[in-house]
Formats: sequence, structure tokens, C-alpha cells
Amino acid sequence: MSDRKYLIAANWKMNPAPQGALAKDSPYRTLSSVDVWVFPTYLDLQPCIEAGLITGAQLGSSAANGAHTGDVSMTMLTELKCRSVLCGHSERRHGRHETNEEVIAQTIAALEAGLHPIVCVGETLKQREAGEEKEVVRKQLEGLPVESRIIIAYEPVWAIGTGKTATPAQAQEMHASIRGLLPKDVRDSTRILYGGSVKPDNAPELLKQKDIDGALVGGASLKPDEFRAIVEAAIG
Ligand code: PGA
Repeated sequence: MSDRKYLIAANWKMNPAPQGALAKDSPYRTLSSVDVWVFPTYLDLQPCIEAGLITGAQLGSSAANGAHTGDVSMTMLTELKCRSVLCGHSERRHGRHETNEEVIAQTIAALEAGLHPIVCVGETLKQREAGEEKEVVRKQLEGLPVESRIIIAYEPVWAIGTGKTATPAQAQEMHASIRGLLPKDVRDSTRILYGGSVKPDNAPELLKQKDIDGALVGGASLKPDEFRAIVEAAIG
């Protein structure tokens, strides 16, 4: 049995923090049995951190400083006391044309700044239909440094925000394939999260899979009751 602790991460995307998120009884607070992290917009980072939530940014720059209008560096996130940062979310890869190389550069910058990056990977529907999903994900992970602080999130693009989820078997197959790509010394300890329309009704089956160590939750993370139910599924 692995001793990987479940991590349930709330990606609020470009939405305000949900009502009551900062309260003492908030479902977004981390627990001794399950790690719970939140990813608000930049504007809500500091309030979340001050309220004691484990907080990460949705994006950080691969550059250290300088003429990059609109960007925020990884070091700035560390100084604010962020724990984590998302690298290569599909909305960045596909909506903002971030390349595999750029995502790896962000991951390296995040590690250098002391953050625990969540590196997001996943194939489009077209790529899955062509049977290319494992190769696409392998390429997305090429050049990933060997580092115990890295977390991977497998998020099939066709399942994000669509209400379609990978079946637990499809997700497990990809998670096992990703684990097999990791270098030996971090293979068993690296947490691999599933993301893409995770909801209270599908979370228990997904989280039961051997290589699924948590979830990156978008839509349902904006609804505190739904998010609480997903965290409870991880508690078991
Ligand atoms: P979703 O988003 O849960 O709304 O599908 C997941 C994500 O984008 O991380």
C-alpha cells in the first residue's frame, strides 16, 4: 500500500471565492487526513492565505522578473506564502497557447522558488479518438525534473467543464501509465490527481482507483456543499 495522502484541490478559475470559504467551518480548510488546497484568482490569494487556507496560484511566470506585463513571478508567490501553483492547465495550454516547453519551464521556476507545482496534462477528444492519448501525455511530461514536490493532474480536455468524466477505468489506466513514466525514486511517492467534471457522485469511484491520489475540481469547487462531499469521499 502506498502512503500517498489524498489531495483535493479547488480551482476557482476566474470566479470570486465562494461564500463562506474563509470561515472557520469552511470545507476548503485542510484536514489531518486529507490535504485540501485552494486556487483563487490573484486578487484572492492574500485573503485566503490570511484566513489560513493552503493556497496556490492558477499561474506563475517562467521568467524571474523584468518586462513581462501582466505576469507574476514564482518568487512573488512564495513571498506571499503560496504553497503551490498550477502549471499547464488546459485552459492555458489551449486558450493561451502555452507549449509543453513553456509549462516545463514554469514547473522548474516554481520548484526553484520553493513551490509545490501541480503540473496539468491531458489529451483532447480528437487525440483520444486517434488513440494518441498516452503519447500526448508522455510528451507533456518530457523534461519534467525529478523532484518529490511535483504533483501531476491528469485532466482529459474533453472532460473539463463538460459534465463528461473519464470512467474510473479510463482514468486509472492513464494514471498507471503516467506513474510508469516517473523516475524510480519518485514513482511511488508522487501524487497524481484526476480532474474533469469531478462531482460528489463520481468522486468515490474515481478516488478508489489505485493510482488516483486526489482530484483537481473546477465547477463543483464553487459550490461549498458539493466540494465538502468530494472531500468526504476522500476521507472514505
Ligand atoms: P471541472 O474543471 O471540474 O469544472 O471540469 C476541472 C479543472 O479545470 O481543473
